[in-house]
Amino acid sequence: MVETTPVSILVLGLFILLPIIIFPKLKGWTHTAQSTILPRLGLRFWRSRQSSEIVSLRMYPIKSCRGFEVQKTILKEHGLDLDRRWMLVDAKTNEFLTIRQIPDMTRIGTALSDNGLDLIITIPDVDSESVITVSIPCHPSLDWLKSNTTIAPVKIWDNDTDGYIYNESINAPFSAFLGRPVALVYKGPTPRILKGNGDPSLLGRIQTTGFPDVFPILIASEASLSELNNRLRRTGVDPITVERFRPNIVIKGQTPWSEDSWKTVRISGDRKPLDLDVVARCARCQVPNVDPDSAVKHKKQPWDMLVSYRRVDEGIKYKPCFGMLSAPRSEGVVEVGMRLEVLEETSEHRYIKGF
Ligand SMILES: *[C@@H]1O[C@H](CO)[C@@H](O)[C@H](O)[C@H]1NC(C)=O
Ligand SMILES: *[C@@H]1O[C@H](CO)[C@@H](O)[C@H](O)[C@H]1NC(C)=O
Ligand SMILES: *[C@@H]1O[C@H](CO)[C@@H](O)[C@H](O)[C@H]1NC(C)=O
Repeated sequence: MVETTPVSILVLGLFILLPIIIFPKLKGWTHTAQSTILPRLGLRFWRSRQSSEIVSLRMYPIKSCRGFEVQKTILKEHGLDLDRRWMLVDAKTNEFLTIRQIPDMTRIGTALSDNGLDLIITIPDVDSESVITVSIPCHPSLDWLKSNTTIAPVKIWDNDTDGYIYNESINAPFSAFLGRPVALVYKGPTPRILKGNGDPSLLGRIQTTGFPDVFPILIASEASLSELNNRLRRTGVDPITVERFRPNIVIKGQTPWSEDSWKTVRISGDRKPLDLDVVARCARCQVPNVDPDSAVKHKKQPWDMLVSYRRVDEGIKYKPCFGMLSAPRSEGVVEVGMRLEVLEETSEHRYIKGF
């Protein structure tokens, strides 16, 4: 039997503590070696390419309003088929409105009709517990737009573009719910050309989008979300869903935050492979603090937690990052279950302000 002398207690203590101290460090070192040192030495073969499964596809047809999941849709150069093709503007100034100033916008719901041809919008009725339903074509023809809307300049961020403005019978329930005159707008024909990291001089092509803030597609990783949720849980905060971050493509993911260095990714399955340029990390504001169900904004989280460890981009040092902003190189069908493979990585990501 070992005598319980101070020395043996010390030795025993070291035996228990050393692995605890060393293993996480080792994990950190091998990860650094894999993601930065070895690629620089050209030793890419050292590990296989990162690859994961698409677990969710999400569209938010009206900017800042509630979106929905689909099993399958079309990836277009401007984003997922119906994503952010519409937005709400102030009826007097035609300036865009977002969940940043008006959290209640997330209580406006969207869905597809059974035949998939119409967008069904549900707006809470201020006078009852029920909702008002508005239905508009998902892909309105030019004739439909000409006879049912008026085209006008609209302002999004600091830039003008154009939009087809819906008529008063469509807009009235939105205005009643938000308590101010607003109008629903469909993206007009003037191309909204990507800027910042997506500027044609950097991207190597001219690419456009509808009404997303900056880029056509946001990709998020469940592995990163659960890492964040573990941290939130430890501080006594309920875990949040990925919807808080309003991503379009959600992958299962492996190592949390390994997406930080993606440069090019490929979506593949039984169908034509689709490549996307990952142009920037997504610098976040406080929108993820808003519960998409209730529109209640948490005073602190996840913002405080993200700020504490996710300010990882030198181009935008004061904002935390979650998800990767991307520009598709081609168009085609994308489906839950397809694989997303990382073709190229970079240590050069640096956010450049766009719009
Ligand atoms: C205008 O909208 C109504 C309702 O959706 C539709 O029945 C009508 O055909 C539209 N006009 C044109 C020219 O498409
Ligand atoms: C407004 O547009 C809708 C189609 O969205 C159409 O059915 C309706 O007749 C229009 N109302 C007026 C007053 O023009
Ligand atoms: C915004 O749009 C105007 C023209 O409407 C253009 O002159 C200006 O350069 C744009 N600003 C940015 C930051 O893109």
